[in-house]
Amino acid sequence: MPASRRGSGSVILPSGQTIAIHTRTQDEEDLPHATKKTMADHLRKYESLFTLTPQRMRMIVEAFTETLELGLSKNNQIVPMIPTFVFGWPTGEEKGDYLALDLGGTNLRVCLVTLQGAGKFEITQTKYRLTEEQKQDDGQKLFDFCAECLKTFVESNVGEGPGMLKEGQMLPLGFTFSYPCSQERIDHGELIRWTKGFGAPNTEGRDVAEMFKQSLAKHNLPVELTALINDTTGTLIASHYVNPSSKIAVIFGTGCNAAYMEHVKDITKIGQLGLPQDEEMGINCEWGAFDSFEHEHLPRTKYDSIVDETSNKPGEQAFEKLISGRYLGEILRLVICELIDEGVLFLGQNTYKLEKPYCFDTAFLSLMESDPTDELLMIIGIFTHFFALETTLAERQFFRALAKLIGRRAARLSACGIAAIVNKMGYLEEGCAVGADGSLYNKYPCFPERVHEGLQDIFGDKGRNIVTHHAEDGSGVGSAIIAAMTKNRRDAGLYPHV
Ligand code: BGC
Repeated sequence: MPASRRGSGSVILPSGQTIAIHTRTQDEEDLPHATKKTMADHLRKYESLFTLTPQRMRMIVEAFTETLELGLSKNNQIVPMIPTFVFGWPTGEEKGDYLALDLGGTNLRVCLVTLQGAGKFEITQTKYRLTEEQKQDDGQKLFDFCAECLKTFVESNVGEGPGMLKEGQMLPLGFTFSYPCSQERIDHGELIRWTKGFGAPNTEGRDVAEMFKQSLAKHNLPVELTALINDTTGTLIASHYVNPSSKIAVIFGTGCNAAYMEHVKDITKIGQLGLPQDEEMGINCEWGAFDSFEHEHLPRTKYDSIVDETSNKPGEQAFEKLISGRYLGEILRLVICELIDEGVLFLGQNTYKLEKPYCFDTAFLSLMESDPTDELLMIIGIFTHFFALETTLAERQFFRALAKLIGRRAARLSACGIAAIVNKMGYLEEGCAVGADGSLYNKYPCFPERVHEGLQDIFGDKGRNIVTHHAEDGSGVGSAIIAAMTKNRRDAGLYPHV
């Protein structure tokens, strides 16, 4: 009689729902499951595919550093290194009421930020969920929706007292639009390409700031679009506002990207603008595009190629597709589907639910890696509840190990990107703090630790000088600070043409 693996417990799903689990499955039961040995053999194969050696990482960093330099010297490069026209660091003394609108990968957020000086602020905000249809619908309609939400927010926050807007008060707005846009000045941005699964037509190649201004005018809003901002630039400024040792900002969420402060004299492609050479300016790297199209540097597996080829943007965002939250669940799902096709997993069970692209949320990988039970009850819950599939302990251990391989590779590649900026700026000896945000960084178990481990694999002991920390809200607070900095700069008559 094989030992019964009775267990019961409850798990909290990404939706917030709690489900009770009672299992009476046995290791050798009616359904033909893979043996422990088979799973171990397969795991070895995936280990060699998904593991990045320190040597390989250093090669990636070298190519990455060259790519960053190229992007600063020439226009229209794959990694565009976009000048943001955010000049230098905030003083911490920026003050006033600012609106911030954040069109991210998943939500739309409207915030009222009151900057109080001395690095202090207050924030009131409302979030709206974006539907998949909205992401593919006409671009102007998307901006009209943003303006509608802003109107509702402004109207419901008019009143007396602190944190309220005064009737008719004209407000500067920072618009965080987190997609690659080339900027000629701070309140302009031509969308280079949509990322993160967005595909709204009639937007690529157009000035999204101008499109949004049209929507604002339609709704007669008392708002002045002061700055168009990327979430990484907002994070860079917000991190420095509260922690002045922060010199780099990274986002690991639905998408991935980084920003840092560069010397104007080294951004040679904007030499004709006649800006003071001793100034500094934030650069939005848009590093998610590293190794796009040519695929020369990154260790892509056949699962990564499938993710790429079946995406709405084949060839693009090659680095992002190995790292960001939008894709990690899909990579794991593709591996499992291959083992189903080979007759290794789930023989005799109906796997149609798991065969749907993108049905395996990256949050499941987080839950699988953090399952604290010996029986791996969380993993039982995920497979039975969402996919109606029975699993054995050996299979669940395999899934967890696979999640770890994919999550670890993402973190180590992220470390390569950070290392490239550190190299470029020569920050290794003096060290620096890196403000980091995004669901993967904040919620995926051990992601920060794995990034740090990666930095040490690249730089040796000195890698410890580079420390990531959870950043201040860049798209809300950061955006407001940038709007304030821009207003102050323009009021002072500094470089009003950009
Ligand atoms: C976008 C970036 C953004 C990043 C994180 C990427 O897909 O291209 O602009 O900063 O996602 O949100």
